[in-house]
Amino acid sequence: MITHSRDLSIEFCGVRFPNPFVLSAAPPTDDLDMVRAAFEAGWGGVVLKTTSVETEPVDLVYPMMSALHHGGQRIVGLGNIDLISEHHIDAVEKRVATLKQEFPDRVVAASIMGSKKEEWQTLVKRLEAVGVDLIECSFSCPQGSMGEEPGAMLAQSLAASERVAGWVKEAAQRCPVVIKITPQVTNIVKVAEAVQRGGADAICAANTIPSLMGVNVDTFVPYPDVQGASTYSGLSGPATKPITLRTLAEISKNVDIPITATGGPVTWRDAVEMMLVGATTVQFCTAVMHYGYDIIDDLQDGLAFYIEDKGFEQPADIIGRALARIVSHGELRRDVKMKSSLIEERCVKCDLCYIACRDGGHQAISIDESTRLPKIDSEKCLGCRLCVTVCPAEALTMVEK
Ligand SMILES: Cc1cc2nc3c(=O)[nH]c(=O)nc-3n(C[C@H](O)[C@H](O)[C@H](O)COP(=O)(O)O)c2cc1C
Repeated sequence: MITHSRDLSIEFCGVRFPNPFVLSAAPPTDDLDMVRAAFEAGWGGVVLKTTSVETEPVDLVYPMMSALHHGGQRIVGLGNIDLISEHHIDAVEKRVATLKQEFPDRVVAASIMGSKKEEWQTLVKRLEAVGVDLIECSFSCPQGSMGEEPGAMLAQSLAASERVAGWVKEAAQRCPVVIKITPQVTNIVKVAEAVQRGGADAICAANTIPSLMGVNVDTFVPYPDVQGASTYSGLSGPATKPITLRTLAEISKNVDIPITATGGPVTWRDAVEMMLVGATTVQFCTAVMHYGYDIIDDLQDGLAFYIEDKGFEQPADIIGRALARIVSHGELRRDVKMKSSLIEERCVKCDLCYIACRDGGHQAISIDESTRLPKIDSEKCLGCRLCVTVCPAEALTMVEK
C-alpha cells in the first residue's frame, strides 16, 4: 500500500470513503474475486453491477463491445450493448456480506433495477439486511422504464423518476439512496430536481450515452456486428468526459445534493476536473476495462500531489471550486482582445496552424519562406484559438493584444 502525504478520505452522504475513487456498476464489479482484486489494489469503493429480483430475465448477446478508434487511439469511446448483471439479488446479497466482512473499511454499494414498486423495495430491504453501505438505483437502463414508454429510460420521465425515488426511499431504513440518471434528456436539472423531490440522498451523473458506434462500409452492418445486425450502444470512455462535466456543473449549480460522477475519467486530472465542478466521488469503468485496476496507484498519487501542491488539506476542499467560473455566454467579457503567439523553439513546422487558420479561421497565419515558421498577423488574428487547439507541439499560446 502506498503512503500518501495527504489523507484522501472523503465523506459522501455520511459514508466515509478511503479515497474518492470508485468502480462503477459494470463488468469490473460483477465478480467477487474481481472486486477483491480491486480492493486489494486500493480502490475506495465499488458499485456492484446492477442487479434485479430472481424472476427478472436478463438475456445478454455477444459480442457486446465496440469502440470509437481515432488517430491511433484504440478507445476514444467504448460502446456496449450489455444489460444489467446476470447475477440476481440472491448472488449479490452473498457478495455484499462477504465483501463487508473482508474489507470493512471499503465502501460496498449495490446498484439495483426493478420493474415495479414491490421489486424496488424488496431489493432495498434485502441489500440493507446484508450490510450494504449505499444503494444506487439505475434509472438509465432501458429495461427499467416501468412500461411507460417501452425502450425509454426511467430518468427520461420526471414523474416516474420522482415516484420511483420515493418508493426506494420509503423502503430504505439505513442506507443513503443514490439515483443514477442519464445525460440523454433535454433538461438535466429538472431530472435532478425530480429525484431530489422523491427524496434521493445523492445523484450519480450520468451514464453512457445512446450511440451508434459506426457502420462497416463493406457489410453495411453497424458495430458491434451480432450475426449481421446491430443495435444502439451505450457510449462511455474519454469521449464522454465533456458531457459529464457539463452535466455535473448544471446539476451542482442548481441542486443541493451530493453527486458521484461517472462518464469518461481516465486520469487523476479527469477526476479532479469532475470534483472541481461538483462531484464528491468519481466512478471509473472504461479506463479500468482498458488499463486495469492498477490505475488506482496513479489516481491516488496524482490527487495527493495535487492537493498538497495547491495548498489544500483534503479532497473535499476542491469540490465545486470551478463552478463560479461557469457563467452564461452573455456574461463573458468582451473588452479584452487576445491573439495567438508563437513559442518558436517548440514549433515543429508542420503547417497545421497555417492550414487551420487559412481554411477554418481568419487567414491570419502565413509561413515565413526563409525560416518555415508560422507568422501571425496581429491585425487579422481575432484570437479564436483554433491554431492553439490543432498545434501538436504546444507551440502556440494566447496573449493579450
Ligand atoms: C460493459 C458495460 C456494462 C455496464 N453495465 C452497467 C450496469 O449494469 N449498470 C449501470 O448502472 N451502469 C452500467 N454501465 C455504465 C458504467 O457504470 C458507467 O456509468 C459508464 O461506463 C460511464 O463511465 P466510464 O466512461 O468510466 O466507462 C456499464 C458500462 C459498460 C461499459
